[in-house]
Amino acid sequence: MRRSTFPPPPPRAPEGVQENVLLAPRTTLCVGGPAAHFLEARDETKVLEALAWARKQGIDVAFLGGGSNVLVADRGFDGLVLRVAIGGINHAMEGDRVTLSAGAGVSWDALVAMAVEHGWAGLECLSGIPGDVGAAPIQNIGAYGQEAGDTITFVYCIDRRSGATVGIDRAGCRFGYRDSIFKRRGRGRFVVVGVTFSLQRNGPATVRYPELERFLRSEGAGASPSLAEVRQAVLELRRRKSMLLESGDENARSAGSFFVNPTLDEEEWARARARIEAAGVLGGGESIPQFPASGGRVKVPAAWLIERAGFHKGSGEGTVGLSTKHALAIVNRGGATAEDILRFARRLRDGVLARFGVRLVPEPVFLGFQPHEIEDLVGH
Ligand code: EPU
Repeated sequence: MRRSTFPPPPPRAPEGVQENVLLAPRTTLCVGGPAAHFLEARDETKVLEALAWARKQGIDVAFLGGGSNVLVADRGFDGLVLRVAIGGINHAMEGDRVTLSAGAGVSWDALVAMAVEHGWAGLECLSGIPGDVGAAPIQNIGAYGQEAGDTITFVYCIDRRSGATVGIDRAGCRFGYRDSIFKRRGRGRFVVVGVTFSLQRNGPATVRYPELERFLRSEGAGASPSLAEVRQAVLELRRRKSMLLESGDENARSAGSFFVNPTLDEEEWARARARIEAAGVLGGGESIPQFPASGGRVKVPAAWLIERAGFHKGSGEGTVGLSTKHALAIVNRGGATAEDILRFARRLRDGVLARFGVRLVPEPVFLGFQPHEIEDLVGH
């Protein structure tokens, strides 16, 4: 028989767990309340230990990466916020391909920079995106003609149901535009610990986004620009839109694109086109900007819809406004609360809906909100 006490003492928190940690400074929007518990886990064992502790304590767990695509509630999060800070990069060559693997906590742009330096093609257009590698597959980050899901071969995750680490291949990830299994069926179940990519050694750069093509031409780049030239061009384009995190850029106190670009099926597109034409917002000879999306759908830039609905760059109310450089970024001008951000987001959403009949859906992750507080925005 073992000496015991009743009730048994609560399980000891894993080493490194901090109490009452402010989350606002850990997000690029700089908004939101504290986490009751916070832990930066540097290896898988620590992640497992933290998950087991939270389960025993009966507290919720939320995950935070680089904080560049998240809106934290003003009340914060009354559970454990876990930052998966697993580092490490390795690679293996096989013929003209290189298999590149990185821990979830590796800085995304550091990985892209490394690939570009070595002449490994496939990630160059994704230069300058803030955040960690672990977040890349979740919303399938994409920019200037590439998506992470184009080159990801495996996403390694802890499956919270079994506690085992599993490798999910590209097909299993079900990548779509800003979409993956990790946002749908696998939500809350899989904790990303590392990602593997297949890149092309000495491969050509991807130049298919019209704006990137035009910019490279205007810079005098040749017919097949190098990976480094494309990286520099993308960084410059992002800088001009304040989509590059640089200290001193007030516009950058944002979560990047606040809404995803709506992708409309044939019928929705016909209806939206009719509404836009009837609204008289098109200049003479101007056509609606559009990009082809998968499944024959049409992607219409949300930034354009927002502007044409009457919300101009730099407009806004008090602590919250639109970036002066890009109409899709909502900026905390200083002292904004999460409620202020949501109120402004709803104004934009309602304005576009009323004018054009198109419903905008937010892109960032919401952390610490009750479902009913945000269900009108996220739609579930
Ligand atoms: N536009 C406007 N006003 C603006 C900005 C853009 O009308 O202030 C219109 C223009 O017609 C422009 C079009 O929107 O041609 C597209 O703009 P942009 O090339 O800047 O891209 P986006 O559709 O607004 C998406 C991604 C960005 C990514 C860029 C470049 C989403 C939600 N956003 O933005 O990703 O960098 O393409 O590929 O898909 C992010 O996800 O946070 C992000 C920054």
